[in-house]
Amino acid sequence: MNALTKDSRKAAARVGLTSDVITIDGGKPLTGEIHIRGAKNLVTKAMVAALLAESPSVLRDVPAISDVGVVTGMLEAYGVAVDTLEDGVLRFDPSNVLRAHFAEIDALAGSSRIPILFCGPLLHRLGEALIPDLGGCRIGDRPIDFHMDALRAFGAVVDKSYEGIRLTAPDGLHGADIELPYPSVGATEQVLLTAVLAKGTTELRNAAIEPEIMDLIAILQKMGAIINVEPNRVIFIEGVEHLSGYDHRAIFDRNEAASWASAALATKGDIVLLGARQQELMTFLNIFRKVGGAFDVREDGIRFWHPGGELKPVVVETDVHPGFMTDWQQPLVVALTQAHGHSVVHETVYENRLGFTDALNQMGANIVVHSAGLESVTRRVPRRPLEQAAVIEGPTPLHGADIEIPDLRGGFSHLIAALTAEGRSRVSNVGIIARGYEHFVHKLELLGAEFSLED
Ligand code: EPU
Repeated sequence: MNALTKDSRKAAARVGLTSDVITIDGGKPLTGEIHIRGAKNLVTKAMVAALLAESPSVLRDVPAISDVGVVTGMLEAYGVAVDTLEDGVLRFDPSNVLRAHFAEIDALAGSSRIPILFCGPLLHRLGEALIPDLGGCRIGDRPIDFHMDALRAFGAVVDKSYEGIRLTAPDGLHGADIELPYPSVGATEQVLLTAVLAKGTTELRNAAIEPEIMDLIAILQKMGAIINVEPNRVIFIEGVEHLSGYDHRAIFDRNEAASWASAALATKGDIVLLGARQQELMTFLNIFRKVGGAFDVREDGIRFWHPGGELKPVVVETDVHPGFMTDWQQPLVVALTQAHGHSVVHETVYENRLGFTDALNQMGANIVVHSAGLESVTRRVPRRPLEQAAVIEGPTPLHGADIEIPDLRGGFSHLIAALTAEGRSRVSNVGIIARGYEHFVHKLELLGAEFSLED
C-alpha cells in the first residue's frame, strides 16, 4: 500500500468512514441544502492557540474532519485535556502541559503540516520543541524556511536532529522585526502564535491577511493579546505576560463553500450552503457570476445554482487574499470543462497544484498544463519559477473513469467530475477528502447523488 493510501485510510478511520473507495453514477444535478461549519484552516490553528493559555478555551462550530482529530491527538500528547461539550463544541484545558513522546507526535502528524505551528507555543510553555518532518498535501515542495527564520529572529535555536527539528530558547523569546519574503499563511500564523507571549514588540511586514488569520487574531485578542493590523500587510504585536482561555465560534469554511458551489455549477444543480457568508467569498462570487453561475445571498447562507444556458470561459490567477484562493481553482476547473471556449487558470501560489487535471483528461476533458506558466503573465514570485497554467477547452462531456485522489482539493474536484460525468466512476483514496470536508458522504446523500461506498 502506498503512503497516500495509508494516509487516506487513517483519515477515513478518524471520521468513522469505513470505506476508502466510492462508486459514483454521475450526470445528475446536485440539489438541496447543506451546512458549512468552521474552517479547517482556522480551527486547527485555534486549537494550537489554546496551548498558550493558562485557563481552558472553548471552540464552537468545529467540523468533524480528520485534521481536527490529528490536532486533538497532538494536544492530548502534550497533556492538554480535550473534551467534546456537545456536537461541534470542543473544550481545551492546558493546565498540565508536558513533553510528548516524539514517536507519538510523528505518528499522529502523518501528512499534516500542523506540528510546525506548535513550535512557538511549546517554546513558551516548555522551553523546547521537537517537530517531525512535515507533510501536508502533495502540491509542491512546501518548505518551512520562513517559519525557521522567523523563530530564529525571536531567539530560538534551531538544530536538525535525526528525528526531526529540535528548537530551544535558552534565553526565552523576545520581540522581533520580521519581513516575510512572501505573505505566507502558515508563517504569519507562526509569528502571531510566537509573538503574543514574547518579551517586547514584534513588527511583521508582508503578512498574510486571509480571513482565517483575522479570525485567529480575534481569538488571540480574546485571550489577552495586543495585536494591531496596519495597512499594507503590516502587523504589530505587543508581547504580554499571560494569556487566558477563549470562547470563540470559528469562521465558516470558505474553501468548502467554494467547492460545493462549483459542484452545483458543474452538475447543473442548485445548492443552498447554510452558514456561508458573502464577505469572505466576494472574489469567488465574481468569478462564479462571470462563468455564468447564479447566486443569492440570504440571511442564513448563500444559494448557488446553474441558471441554464451556456457557461462562459474565464481567465483566473490564484493569489493571496483578497485574490482568488489557490484552494478554489481545482473545483472550479471541473465547471470550466463545461464552459464554451478557452479558460485559463494560472496557479501562482504552489508549484504543483494542477496535477489533478490528468484525471479530468482521462474523463474526457481537454486541459493542457503549461508547467512554466504563461509567458504573457508577469511573475509575481520571481525567486523561483513557480507558476503553472492550465488551459481548459470546453465544453467537453465527461465520462466515468477509475481515478485515484491525489490531495484534498484536487480530490474534491475528482468527486465533482465523477458527479458531472455520464456513467460510473470509481474513486479511490476518498479518505483524503475527510481531512477537510465534514460529513461529505452524508452531504452527497442529502444532495441526491447516486453512489455507494465499496466494502
Ligand atoms: N512557503 C515557503 N516557505 C515557507 C512557507 C511557505 O516558500 O516557509 C511558500 C509555499 O511553498 C507556497 C507559498 O509560500 O508556495 C504559500 O504557502 P503558505 O505558507 O501561505 O501556505 P500554508 O500555510 O502551508 C495554508 C493552507 C493551505 C492554503 C494556503 C494558501 C492550512 C493548514 N493550509 O497553507 O490550505 O492553500 O495556506 O492559502 O492553513 C488546504 O486547505 O487544502 C490547503 C492546502
